[in-house]
Amino acid sequence: MESTDDISYVNQQEAIEIDQMLMGPLGFTVDQLMELAGLSVASAIGEVYSSSEYTRVLVICGPGNNGGNGLVAARHLHHFGYKPSICYPKRNTEPPFAGLVTQLESLSVPFLPVEDLPVQLSSDFEIIVDAIFGFSFHGNPRPPFDSLIRRLVSIKNQQRTHEKAAVIISVDVPSGWHVVEGDICGEGIEPDMLVSLTAPKLCAKMFCGLHHFLGGRFVPRSIIDKFKLKLPPYPGTSMCVRIGNFPETNSSAQKGIFTASVNLEVEENPIDQFHKWLGDASEAGVKEPHYMVLSTAGKDAKPSSRMVSLEGVNKDGFVWHTNYRSRKAREISENPHASLLFYWGPIKCQVRVEGFVEQVSDEESERYFSSLPLDIQIRPIVSKQSTLIHGREILHHQYKEFKEKYHDRTSIARPKHWGGYRLIPEFFEFWQGEESQVLLKFRYCVEEIDGRRVWTIHRLVPQFAESASSL
Ligand SMILES: Cc1cc2nc3c(=O)[nH]c(=O)nc-3n(C[C@H](O)[C@H](O)[C@H](O)COP(=O)(O)O)c2cc1C
Repeated sequence: MESTDDISYVNQQEAIEIDQMLMGPLGFTVDQLMELAGLSVASAIGEVYSSSEYTRVLVICGPGNNGGNGLVAARHLHHFGYKPSICYPKRNTEPPFAGLVTQLESLSVPFLPVEDLPVQLSSDFEIIVDAIFGFSFHGNPRPPFDSLIRRLVSIKNQQRTHEKAAVIISVDVPSGWHVVEGDICGEGIEPDMLVSLTAPKLCAKMFCGLHHFLGGRFVPRSIIDKFKLKLPPYPGTSMCVRIGNFPETNSSAQKGIFTASVNLEVEENPIDQFHKWLGDASEAGVKEPHYMVLSTAGKDAKPSSRMVSLEGVNKDGFVWHTNYRSRKAREISENPHASLLFYWGPIKCQVRVEGFVEQVSDEESERYFSSLPLDIQIRPIVSKQSTLIHGREILHHQYKEFKEKYHDRTSIARPKHWGGYRLIPEFFEFWQGEESQVLLKFRYCVEEIDGRRVWTIHRLVPQFAESASSL
């Protein structure tokens, strides 16, 4: 067992012994350990990749216990609001695996045969979970896992050429890596996130991705003492803890965009540009990059701002959901012009979007509402946004009442006063810099030409704040 200043890394033999001890004298069962591992993986994913941006998840499950961890993670991800699909080509039909498959089937989580996977996995999925091989694996991967691993390797090449690419999350050990020596040939998977389980394996020292987490909050004192483990404390009630350095780096900076001699590498379309920075923010560890400030002003022209959550963005605009009886809704009905503001600290970026707001169609609101878990669906029924209430306990009481009333339901009807709005953008400003230095600033303005919306980019050269203040 090796240890840096504050964390231990275990070799393959130690990992096997820890497992044997857990499932022997310490009384754990394999399905318990799988539950804890899968929950840790899903929690770590939830910490970094929001379900609204990274909705579609492919979980590739191997034939052994790491495959089981993947099945459990998929079930939790489903309940966390993601849309998992599973590729489980060499199924273990014994318990607890068979039970996990049944549970997922009952949730209508699709199982995809290898031949039905798209050629480019990134075209159908935002996240790929590599739960193929764990710490007990050795030797060379056999079909079909060898070719699946090659497909994961090619995703990294897509990322290098700035194509839209899925992120890869490896469970415990990146599949194909040597448990101790890591990616020996330098041609293996390069995951964006690694979730080590119980204690990191030695190969994790070679992990170069942005997000390294540890999961498995159950290790008893006797194991810690016997193996002289140094493990970090878990925050609050969390099932995972970030280890390794929190990414301070700006991934756009790594691509050479925001260097001192700023390269104004901007997209022609502001929505593509927005997606690029949103992805950078997420990769850099911004926890909720889709939270935004929405500012509105009614007929009295007095502006009001509040946070809302961006549910989706595409060429048609920016969508969020809210109560149609709220202050913002009243102000939008009086004056449909609004502004959105995003600020992503770790990459020092700010984006302003201004435009015209309309309600989304009932069908769209319906679709979104029905995708929400029951707990969230109840909220707009109970909450009367922006009205005075006589005590918190009344709300809690009503919430409890509704929960009991609907306890046997998986979904309820959308209240008519709750739905989506879409801001159709007319102006964007992208800003990157620090308080004292603006490194990059550019704007997009829209013009209507022959019935088409055409964007013009105004590139504003980098300037120091004193002289840039007028930009
Ligand atoms: C991080 C964060 C996200 C929020 N997301 C939403 C949202 O998506 N929809 C919403 O109606 N309220 C959301 N709220 C609550 C709003 O900020 C606000 O309090 C509420 O919508 C009432 O606003 P109004 O009285 O100005 O209409 C969010 C609050 C926070 C702090």
